[in-house]
Amino acid sequence: MKVLVVHGPNLNLLGQREPEVYGSLTLADIEQELSDLAQRLEVSIEFYQSNHEGEIVTRLQEADQDCDVILINPAAFTHTSVAIRDALAAIQCPAIEVHLSNIHAREEFRQHSYTASVSVGVITGFGKESYLLGLRAAVALVQPS
Ligand code: DQA
Repeated sequence: MKVLVVHGPNLNLLGQREPEVYGSLTLADIEQELSDLAQRLEVSIEFYQSNHEGEIVTRLQEADQDCDVILINPAAFTHTSVAIRDALAAIQCPAIEVHLSNIHAREEFRQHSYTASVSVGVITGFGKESYLLGLRAAVALVQPS
């Protein structure tokens, strides 16, 4: 079983970017924790980060060939991107949406997600735990106990 983790724009700046909102961990720190958990759960995991909408669309289309489930933090594209929404709707591979912050407790423009309705579910507001819970949810989805 293979999980693809997709990080949207500006998440490459985690650790230095608005630490009061997103915490002090870097993307590499979060990916290390995800890799450790994936090893314990005996699944393979791949990471992809892009600041470009079209590149994310292309990677999602490819995921249909090479992955079983997607964990995605579309970041700002959550609130703007019909293209990423349509890519998630077009592929067979299921996706789980995650956010570090609670998007429903922030500015009004963050409270709508284009991608939520084409995801299996959304985990938002738990910092790095959103990703770790998302990975557990992804594994349970593909390998129900
Ligand atoms: C985010 C929330 C988005 O509103 C924001 O644009 C991000 C990060 C989060 O993980 O909390 O870049 O997706």
